[in-house]
Amino acid sequence: MPGINGPPSDPSPETCPSYDPDALQLPPHLLLDAFHGLNVCAPMVRYSKLAFRTLVSRYETHITTTPMILAKEFSRTEAARNSEFSTNEFERGTFELLPDVPESSQSAQRRLFQLASSVKEDTLGEAGREAQAIARKMAKRKVRVRGALVAQFASSEPGPFADATELIGRFVDGVDLNCGCPQPWAYEELLGSYLLRQPETVRDMVRAVKARMGEDFCVSVKIRIDPDLKLTDALVRNALHAGASVLQIHGRTRWQSSAGTPVDLDGIKFAVDAANACGFRTAWGSRGGAEARFADGGSGGLVPCVANGDVWTLDDAIGYREKTGCRGAMSARGLLANPALFAGYDKTPKEAVGLFHQVATSWGLHTALIQRHLAYMLEESFWGRAEAIHFNSLSGAAAMTDYLAAEGLLLGNKGHVDPLAERFGYGVVSSGKGQGVGPMRCWSVSETLAGMGL
Ligand SMILES: Cc1cc2nc3c(=O)[nH]c(=O)nc-3n(C[C@H](O)[C@H](O)[C@H](O)COP(=O)(O)O)c2cc1C
Repeated sequence: MPGINGPPSDPSPETCPSYDPDALQLPPHLLLDAFHGLNVCAPMVRYSKLAFRTLVSRYETHITTTPMILAKEFSRTEAARNSEFSTNEFERGTFELLPDVPESSQSAQRRLFQLASSVKEDTLGEAGREAQAIARKMAKRKVRVRGALVAQFASSEPGPFADATELIGRFVDGVDLNCGCPQPWAYEELLGSYLLRQPETVRDMVRAVKARMGEDFCVSVKIRIDPDLKLTDALVRNALHAGASVLQIHGRTRWQSSAGTPVDLDGIKFAVDAANACGFRTAWGSRGGAEARFADGGSGGLVPCVANGDVWTLDDAIGYREKTGCRGAMSARGLLANPALFAGYDKTPKEAVGLFHQVATSWGLHTALIQRHLAYMLEESFWGRAEAIHFNSLSGAAAMTDYLAAEGLLLGNKGHVDPLAERFGYGVVSSGKGQGVGPMRCWSVSETLAGMGL
């Protein structure tokens, strides 16, 4: 089942090319616990919707996040639920990860191996050959793992946050509380970055969701650092002691724009140290110390952290994790420009453009938004400003499709080209019959809940 709570569906590889029923499924905090070096797609208003999340999941993005959703609206109106969230059984990726190594993903392993073997085999010496033999042996220990989906909410009140989480819970693997949105409207509504200096409110909201959904349900908080690091420390302690499962840290303050300010890795490291100082997770927070145990007897590790800000390449992700001690790295603008960055590509591969176009048009993403995404992805490949202007001025779906066809960027009749399905050898739909995409494949929150009598 795609989510930890499992939507009422019986997906088969035949109808669902990228769905592997045998893959291990864990909520984000346990994924991050079990495997180091995971990659995360940031929440992005307008952009991190179903089609884009599906795309990045094909390229070593292990955890994806919805755009910020207003919890109050989501819990109050069906219209908000239908317009703000859709998902289906395709969207999560499947990955082969190595446990107990600093970088568990295939792309990072490849990259590290590449760096190590810039020394030729015959000059490696005994130690080098031994290292390669160990690497070959380790490769056999890979675990096939399913990706995780997180819904991000903006809220300033425990009740609506818990209500919205309860409604979306069966479709996702966790929720995230936005404590970073710097927009003036959000601040005035006591949302987003307003919460950075309201640790008790954050604490109460985390507690409310844990109380409603159970201690195992993943609640992350996404914060920015504060120029007064004592306040970051207070926020982190309150969130973690209340039971926050993951800490995601954008290494800028609420006054610093992403375009104008480089990310502060020392600030992220400070927050990671503050999180580690909270000790081990217990059933209801992190006040444990080394003896802490979950109610089921399992040991609660340190709360895993995710570094965010200026991750543009796979090397950035690997380097940031090493420098900050984070288990994961999160990208927003980097993924918009190159959805395959975590798989080690230096620019958007051709087939990613075709796959996105196919999935997004079939699933009914608004044409203007598809065009905006494609403009980001193709920016590196445009031969100049004139071509970028030409692309942006194309009007309508037909003109956009003609442009992509002329550039050889459409998938054509190859069917649903799914790098995951190809790599793992299951359920590639060749052509014709049910290419596996279509609006009917987007689960509606309201209809599903109604179908279950809720
Ligand atoms: C278009 C766009 C939309 C964003 N929307 C959200 C959002 O909904 N929630 C959130 O927490 N952050 C949002 N952010 C911030 C990003 O998640 C991220 O923290 C920030 O862009 C820094 O990461 P980057 O340097 O990789 O872009 C958004 C950023 C962009 C560029």
